[in-house]
Amino acid sequence: MRLLLQNGQILSKDNTLVKKDILIEGSKVVQMASEIQVGDGMQVIPLAGKLVIPGLIDMHVHLREPGFEKKETIETGSLAAARGGFTTIACMPNTRPVIDTPKTVENIIQEAERVGKARVLPLGAITIRELGQELTDFEALKQAGIVALSDDGVGVQSSHMMKEAMRKAHELGLSIVAHCEDDTLAKNGCVHDGEFAKKHGLQGIPNEAEAIHVGRDILLAEDVGVHYHVCHISTEQSVRLVREAKSRGQKVTAEVTPHHLLLTDGEIPGLDPLYKMNPPLRSAEDRAALIAGLKDGTIEIIATDHAPHTLEEKAMGMEKAPFGIVGLETAFPLMYTHLVRTGELLLSELVEKMTRKPAEIFGLPYGELAEGKRADITVIDLESEKEIDPANFYSKGKNTPFTGWKCQGWPVLTLLNGTITYQENER
Ligand code: DOR
Ligand code: ZN
Ligand code: ZN
Repeated sequence: MRLLLQNGQILSKDNTLVKKDILIEGSKVVQMASEIQVGDGMQVIPLAGKLVIPGLIDMHVHLREPGFEKKETIETGSLAAARGGFTTIACMPNTRPVIDTPKTVENIIQEAERVGKARVLPLGAITIRELGQELTDFEALKQAGIVALSDDGVGVQSSHMMKEAMRKAHELGLSIVAHCEDDTLAKNGCVHDGEFAKKHGLQGIPNEAEAIHVGRDILLAEDVGVHYHVCHISTEQSVRLVREAKSRGQKVTAEVTPHHLLLTDGEIPGLDPLYKMNPPLRSAEDRAALIAGLKDGTIEIIATDHAPHTLEEKAMGMEKAPFGIVGLETAFPLMYTHLVRTGELLLSELVEKMTRKPAEIFGLPYGELAEGKRADITVIDLESEKEIDPANFYSKGKNTPFTGWKCQGWPVLTLLNGTITYQENER
C-alpha cells in the first residue's frame, strides 16, 4: 500500500513552514519532496496546507485497565489518544492490580496491540502495589517490556527505598519517573495551599510537598547516577532545583501538564472538582516559573497526566472527589491556542516537547518525521476554531475544566506505522 499525503506543510527547525508531499509505503516514510508524482495504485490524501508533524508522544497517561474500566479502558484510551494526535502513550501503573508483575505488563501490551490505535508503553511500579514497602522485580518487568519505573499516584515516602530503587534501576538502564509528594506535608490537602484554600477553608497542599521530593531525589540520583524524571512539575521551587541540577550536568528531566501551564488556583471558579488534580493548580508565580522553565529547556516535555474518572466520582465534592482530569483529546489544541498563539512558546518548541524530546529522553525510536523513518504522523488543522466539548470525547472520562474553551490546532489525521488510526469526520 502506498499513501501520498499531498500538499502538507512541515515545520523546519527555524519555525517556518515548508510545503511537502509525503509518500508512505507500508510502515515507513519513503519520500518527502516539494512535489511527488501520483503513481499507480497510490491512495492520495489532499492536505490543503495543513501542518504535518511526527505522531505526538505522551509519557504520562492513566488507562485504568485493569481494574477501573468504568473510568477508561485500553481501548477507549487508545481511541482518545489517536484522536488527540498521539501515536505513542506511556501508561501509569496505578491500576488494580497495580502493574507490578510481568504478567500485568504483558496483558496491557497484548490488549493495546489488539486495539491497534496507539502504541502503549507501560510503566512498571517501583514498589509492590505502590505501597512503598518493597521493590518490585525490575529485571522481570524490564524483560516484560516496561519503558520506565514509577509509583505515580503516590510519592515514594522512604528516602532509603527511593535510593535502593535508583541503584537497581541504574544497573538495568531504567529511568525513575517520580510523582513527587511528601505525605507529611501534603496531608489530606485537596487544593493548592494558597488563596483558594484560604477562601474556602480547605486543607492546602504546599509547594514544598512536591519540591522536598524533587530536591531529595536529585541528591540521591546525583550519587547513584540514574536518569531521574520529575512528573507533572508544578512549583517554582521544583523548577529551580531541576535547573540547578541540569547546570551541573546531571541527568535530570521534567514534564509539565497543559493544565499547570494554563490555569492557576486563583482561576478556580468555585468548589468544582473538575479543577481538582494532584499536584494542584498553583499560583500565578508558579505558572510563570513553569513557562520560563519550558522556554529555557529546564522542562523538556509536555505530558497530559490524562486521568479519567466518572462524573459520579467527580460529583463528590472538592474534598472527596478523586484527583485528576483528562487531557489526551485537548492537549495539542490547548497548547497551540493558549501558549503558541499567545506568543509564549514557538510552534516548533511545542512540537519538539510533544514528539522528539520525550523520545530522546526515554530512548525511544519515535518522534521524528523523515525519509526512512517510521510513519507515525499527525496532521493538524491550524485554522478551524472549535469549542472543547467533552460530550464528544472518545475517552470515557469527561472530567475536564476546559469545556467551552475555543481552540485552533485540532488533529485531523493520525497515522501509526503508516496506518490511519484517526481521521476527522470518521463518525
Ligand atoms: O491528578 C492526578 N490523578 N494525579 C495523580 O497523581 C494520580 C492521577 C490519577 O490516577 O487519577
Ligand atoms: Zn502523579
Ligand atoms: Zn499521573
